[in-house]
Amino acid sequence: MAEIENSKLAIIGAGAVGTSIAYAAIIRGSAREVVISDVDAARVEAEMLDLAHGTLFTGSTSITGGDDLDIVIGAHVIVITAGAKQHAGQSRLDLASTNVDILRDLMPKLVARAPDAVYLLVTNPCDVMVVAAHEISGLPSGRVFGSGTVLDTSRLRWLLAERVGVSASSVHAMIVGEHGDSEFPLWSQASVGPVPILEWRTEDVPPLDLDELDRIANDVRNAAYRVIAGKGATNYAIGLSVARIAEAVLRDEGAVLPLSSMLTDYRGISGVALSIPSVVDARGISHVIDAPFSPSELELLTISAEAVRKTLRPLGF
Ligand code: LAC
Repeated sequence: MAEIENSKLAIIGAGAVGTSIAYAAIIRGSAREVVISDVDAARVEAEMLDLAHGTLFTGSTSITGGDDLDIVIGAHVIVITAGAKQHAGQSRLDLASTNVDILRDLMPKLVARAPDAVYLLVTNPCDVMVVAAHEISGLPSGRVFGSGTVLDTSRLRWLLAERVGVSASSVHAMIVGEHGDSEFPLWSQASVGPVPILEWRTEDVPPLDLDELDRIANDVRNAAYRVIAGKGATNYAIGLSVARIAEAVLRDEGAVLPLSSMLTDYRGISGVALSIPSVVDARGISHVIDAPFSPSELELLTISAEAVRKTLRPLGF
């Protein structure tokens, strides 16, 4: 497949996250058309106007908005951000019941209007929402996935880049598993350029050790709590993360990103969605990579699967 002509990105939910995704997509030129939908007609119209008023300073993205779901007809990627958000101290898993109920109503209406779209779940708890959307929609797992730990991976790479003095784009490290408290870095595969992370050193940059890697991993796991405690929500970095994921689909990139999708016998794990490095292109996730895990990392992946599964069970999935 090739880059999608006249690409259309639809965003469900005009809250802080949904509008940040739209803003990031417009500035990055992620799609030719961005549409944003929300049940609050006045709110979504105001957000759309505020975004459109900056068009002189961005590319040629067209932006429309409304409370009628028909707006998603013809969309290639549909991003779902609708739902309750975390409050200070609340875990992402605490939101499950409320937000899955919203999905039970929303998903059939969206698929009826856009049966061929790629569905990108952002609403938390992301992994639980991916399983619910997959089960409710009946869509193939490659076409209904979550932003997962793409944002956490960006946080990790920013922290490492700051520490080693190298651009984040040259720090190769990924967070995998639950987008939540049980997420973990694939340290066994982490490197700075071609150098394994623990072997990196320069005249003015001392080497990292295992304790410091643990501290950095904890800083990533706690990053959202820290931001939410200070400003009530996270929005800018998730906005950029989701615009980046949408681009990989709309430009048929074949990019490798840690996305959350329904796993079937992945290292013995089935029936749950976790973030695993995956190839994403115009078809959605075209390949979940059989990544090398160390024995301890496999153990952490199993723990992460159980954390998500524990939340799924009472919801009937
Ligand atoms: C965060 C939200 C998007 O990690 O879960 O900031």
